[in-house]
Amino acid sequence: MRKEKPRSVVVVGAQWGDEGKGKVIDLLTEFADVIVRFQGGNNAGHTLVVGGEKFIFHLIPSGILRETKRCVIGSGVVIDPGVLIEEIDELRKRGYFPNDAQLLISEEAHLIMPYHKKIDVARERLQGRNRIGTTGRGIGPAYEDKVGRCGIRIVDLLDEGVFERKLENNLVQKNFLLTQFLGEESCSKDEVLEQYMDFRTRIEPFVANTSVFLSDAMNRNERILFEGAQGCFLDVDHGTYPYVTSSNTVAGNACAGAGVGPTYIDYVLGVSKAYTTRVGEGPFPTELKDEMGEKIRERGGEYGATTGRPRRCGWFDAVMVNHALRLNGGSGLVITKLDVLDDVERIKICTGYKHKGKVLKVVPASIEVLKECEPLYEGYEGWLESTRNARKFQELPEKAKAYIKRLEDSTHTKVVAVSVGSDREETIMIENPYQ
Ligand code: GDP
Ligand code: IMO
Ligand code: MG
Repeated sequence: MRKEKPRSVVVVGAQWGDEGKGKVIDLLTEFADVIVRFQGGNNAGHTLVVGGEKFIFHLIPSGILRETKRCVIGSGVVIDPGVLIEEIDELRKRGYFPNDAQLLISEEAHLIMPYHKKIDVARERLQGRNRIGTTGRGIGPAYEDKVGRCGIRIVDLLDEGVFERKLENNLVQKNFLLTQFLGEESCSKDEVLEQYMDFRTRIEPFVANTSVFLSDAMNRNERILFEGAQGCFLDVDHGTYPYVTSSNTVAGNACAGAGVGPTYIDYVLGVSKAYTTRVGEGPFPTELKDEMGEKIRERGGEYGATTGRPRRCGWFDAVMVNHALRLNGGSGLVITKLDVLDDVERIKICTGYKHKGKVLKVVPASIEVLKECEPLYEGYEGWLESTRNARKFQELPEKAKAYIKRLEDSTHTKVVAVSVGSDREETIMIENPYQ
């Protein structure tokens, strides 16, 4: 039965990642009790700016800055323990995350191992022009092992004997692949064992049955906020395959990746920029390879939060965002980075693709077809004034309001918030999902 006010909200990216999910999670954390990452790993880079202070989270949920909230890393996440420990230490150095009890890590989550990172990087190098443009963090190889049933989990890390046996079994194949095919150095069992047993001491206090924890929290009527990573078109099933990541990024996976049932989810919030970006390779119909693309990149600071790579930029693609909201069952949409378009004279929205004389309104499954698609644009006059100080929808320039309304119409989804700057304060909340 649907509750009157949503208690569980899933936030997902409706494009190719970096939509500003971190900022949206930070805003909604105020109204939630528990914040949960359910997929991906430290390929994610979620940026929060609070009173001018900047934080980038790769693994720890973006709710960690508020001391009274609890953060969960679910079983669907792949964890690089070294990165997790660095993130914890960095937070503590800056005076945050005082209590261990604030963070819970699923005992079922899989570990990213040193050989996963080596394989990821070496494979990309070998692929040359056909590379995917991964973040090189070992994400793909770690998920391959999970599905291949030879992965090593957090629960294995807690039992040295089991960990050593699984590591040894894995290294037989991984070292063969590394040295005989990829031209890399092998991994030493003793070194990995020693390093991971050190990690274990640091991580053990956080390990829990997070599914039980979440179920109990829900039974206490607490509010849960699920923090998606990546974006719809990086989803391994529904994205621009093979130029995708190795997990399901859509809202449906919040359940599997956190260990809760679908009946618990009340609301799905899609996040999209007022334009489009993509980092890594793969088709991108509305990409701007001209001065306008350059302008958006510079104004929007479009450089990857994880790898620092320049992001490819282009116009808003309503075909994609509409497709994403359908796949995710989007209840509402947040538009971020509206301010980046403040000085653009003429703005475009793609509302269809032309392919071999036909007009497509749905993203085609074949990337060969997608590559050949020509975007059909509607043009809008820019508002040519700053939106950064607007805190209410009415305070936006008329032309900016019209642009947002058009995004709403073309995606068939209500815009519930507009972001006009990177800071927590620089937000127009129209309809808070929790209230
Ligand atoms: P995420 O991966 O979806 O969390 O997004 P990222 O953090 O990778 O990238 C979004 C970038 O845009 C970050 O640098 C944010 O600080 C910044 N940002 C978020 N919202 C806004 C906004 O409304 N305006 C501007 N100018 N920057 C924003
Ligand atoms: P957030 O959560 C943008 C992209 C990589 C590459 C592809 C596969 O910050 O939005 P992977 O390392 O996952 O095997 O790389 O996916 N990618 C992201 N792009 N934002 C992300 O995360 C991304 N995580 C992965 O650039 O194209
Ligand atoms: Mg990011």
